[in-house]
Amino acid sequence: MKLLALCVVLAMAQAARKPVTTKAPPTLESVVDQMNELKKTVEEMTGTIGTLSRQLMLQQLNMEERIRSEGDSGIKQIRVNSGGTKAYHAPSYVGSRFLSVHDHDNNYRTIGMGEFIAVLNGVEFRTRHNDYGLKMPHRTRTTFHAVEDVPYPEVPPAVLKKATVQEQITEMREWFKAWANQDYSKRDYRPYFKPTLCYLEGAWTTNSKSLDEPFSSDRHHIDASSWFDLQEKIRFTSYSGRKSSLENYAYLPTTVMNLLNGTIPQVAQWNYRIACHPLKRDLPLNRLRVVDDLAARMSYKRRIGVHSLSRAARFQINPRDSNTWSERTSSYGLLDQLMEEVPGKDNYAGNLTDDAFESTAYEYYAKDSKPINVAYYHRYFRTTDRDAMGTSSQHRGYADANIFMAMTTQPKIAPMTVKSCKKGVCKTYTQRWTYAVPLEVIYMTPLYRWNPYDIEFKGITGTRRARVVTYGGRNGGLEKDRAFNGTASRIYYQTPAEFFSGTTTEKDSADTSKGIVGVLDKNGVVRRVASSGTKIVLPEIEGIGRLRTRYPVMPIHAEGQATWKELAALKDLVMEQPRYLSMYNELPVGVSATMLANLNKTVASDMLLETSTPSGNEHTHTIRLSAEDIEELKQGKYMYVLTSESMGHSHSLRVKAYKRRNKWAYYFDECDGNGSKRCWDGHRNMLYVIEDQE
Ligand SMILES: *[C@@H]1O[C@H](CO)[C@@H](O)[C@H](O)[C@H]1NC(C)=O
Ligand SMILES: *[C@@H]1O[C@H](CO)[C@@H](O)[C@H](O)[C@H]1NC(C)=O
Ligand SMILES: *[C@@H]1O[C@H](CO)[C@@H](O)[C@H](O)[C@H]1NC(C)=O
Ligand SMILES: *[C@@H]1O[C@H](CO)[C@@H](O)[C@H](O)[C@H]1NC(C)=O
Ligand SMILES: *[C@@H]1O[C@H](CO)[C@@H](O)[C@H](O)[C@H]1NC(C)=O
Repeated sequence: MKLLALCVVLAMAQAARKPVTTKAPPTLESVVDQMNELKKTVEEMTGTIGTLSRQLMLQQLNMEERIRSEGDSGIKQIRVNSGGTKAYHAPSYVGSRFLSVHDHDNNYRTIGMGEFIAVLNGVEFRTRHNDYGLKMPHRTRTTFHAVEDVPYPEVPPAVLKKATVQEQITEMREWFKAWANQDYSKRDYRPYFKPTLCYLEGAWTTNSKSLDEPFSSDRHHIDASSWFDLQEKIRFTSYSGRKSSLENYAYLPTTVMNLLNGTIPQVAQWNYRIACHPLKRDLPLNRLRVVDDLAARMSYKRRIGVHSLSRAARFQINPRDSNTWSERTSSYGLLDQLMEEVPGKDNYAGNLTDDAFESTAYEYYAKDSKPINVAYYHRYFRTTDRDAMGTSSQHRGYADANIFMAMTTQPKIAPMTVKSCKKGVCKTYTQRWTYAVPLEVIYMTPLYRWNPYDIEFKGITGTRRARVVTYGGRNGGLEKDRAFNGTASRIYYQTPAEFFSGTTTEKDSADTSKGIVGVLDKNGVVRRVASSGTKIVLPEIEGIGRLRTRYPVMPIHAEGQATWKELAALKDLVMEQPRYLSMYNELPVGVSATMLANLNKTVASDMLLETSTPSGNEHTHTIRLSAEDIEELKQGKYMYVLTSESMGHSHSLRVKAYKRRNKWAYYFDECDGNGSKRCWDGHRNMLYVIEDQE
């Protein structure tokens, strides 16, 4: 709008500068001429602005497309604060810590996490110091960004029943032992150790002058009065190399989202938040596995076991919900099932279908194909094309392996509209989308609530009621006049110190907890207690060891690059040489053919099978099974596998194996869900092995 007004003024100024030939008063005719000329100039300029604005918009698209093709959604970089003679001494997405994780375990509900640069669907941005709270989207309200506290698990009644604190400690250790060993036969720990999936969510929001704090943290907030103010501060810090000492500036880009009437740019503001979702199911610990980041390990010379308990460790989720790990599997996996529990910006009440281009998105692995509720985060779906029979599988994005998307109706999310015509009938579709990637899995334990000394919680630090906690120089000392008088949101110590046998785990400068402190109980007795908030790794528990409760699983931006993929293959060849020896083109020095023959059996290849139709409409689909898949099938298990696409469709098969005359045979007993034994186009149930290197 302002731009247009400015141009009109400029046009007038230009017109006014034209030499005036006579001094005689202007005739009506000449005024009309001038007006017409002015009108023409304004029209021309409007056209030019329209073209330029459009080019600006396309420039942003061009940049996003470039980023999208160069990497996946995920973390790219953390702040560099150390270095050395090797490139890997300076942090990338990981340094001494992955995702800048640290502990604020003296806080009631704070998860320590510093700044990082991330990419979501081609949009690169930099966060503030995150330190997010354990909050989840609201279960019933649909207001934009309405959240509620993630409920803390209860303390096992078997612990509460014990008469003395010492007995409670002993019993509580048994529960931790059961969880650590994942043995729920004697003590079913599952209702009391609950996994929560926290995620990073981003979206283009409709522009408003006032800055929306994306999510609350009791320690950090964006230190700017408006979006404009934030942009100026970020520009200055990038120009001068400074930072806000509290790390409270975020770089959040803007974009021209639409051109109203072809000229007026409608600007959208990128914003992000971190929220959590308490998983509806248990996630056994063996579904998580540490990823070998060599740069991080080499930098600190850590063996993999030590690394996995360090703050630099990141984890991946078993693609299949199974005790054994599957390596090469179909892309839809356990992570998809977990993320599909997470709602988009319509919160849990959201229920939307995506019917863009007259083709409804269906659930990916559905028993009875229902339209997928796109108000929840998902990657994979199936579509039916009116022209082709059957359905075909798709995933959101072109090359981005990690992006989850959800649709929303929130007016604060910038919409986009498209017009599509089929057989002369035109329809317009307006949709609003948000993006997410998983951030970390936090196992919540009964320690948040367990309070055997019955210490009074006096609310939010800073309120009147909580002031007595530190009143008169009380600092947590073990003397009566130094001990905290009760606990508060930022002084949350109530776990008996003897529960742990060690005091601290790995420490770094961002941590805020004090180890063991003195706190007065309701009767004024000093109790020795440890902090009860979220810790990455718990201090040593006698007879059990150190237990990890935070498992960062955020994907890496660079994993989407061709170089990374080649490097990852090479890394496996080098790091697991005996296992992959048969993949070498020439034997490494010192390895003889006899050694190779002995090692050989460990490499198993994929198996390729196909299913064909009897006659007419003839076509085949292939499925690929990894060595691990085949192992599982041979144990009598079944699995859902999606076939390749052929004749414009694919099938979802329930595959099984059985032994026939000493040979394994593979077949399916369900096609495209719906309880049907046969596919709609009559494929044979037996699968033919067309490639098997064993
Ligand atoms: C776009 O043009 C239409 C018709 O000329 C007008 O009614 C509308 O107000 C314009 N929109 C904007 C945002 O200027
Ligand atoms: C979502 O809406 C559809 C109809 O639009 C309905 O059939 C379905 O039951 C709804 N799902 C939920 C979870 O409410
Ligand atoms: C499911 O099966 C029924 C009966 O067998 C059939 O009428 C229906 O079209 C099937 N639905 C899908 C989505 O294949
Ligand atoms: C501790 O705080 C309570 C109020 O919460 C107060 O009544 C009590 O006197 C305080 N105790 C000491 C020793 O200051
Ligand atoms: C080792 O692998 C090679 C290539 O896969 C194969 O030709 C050879 O027979 C294998 N040897 C043994 C002992 O399995």
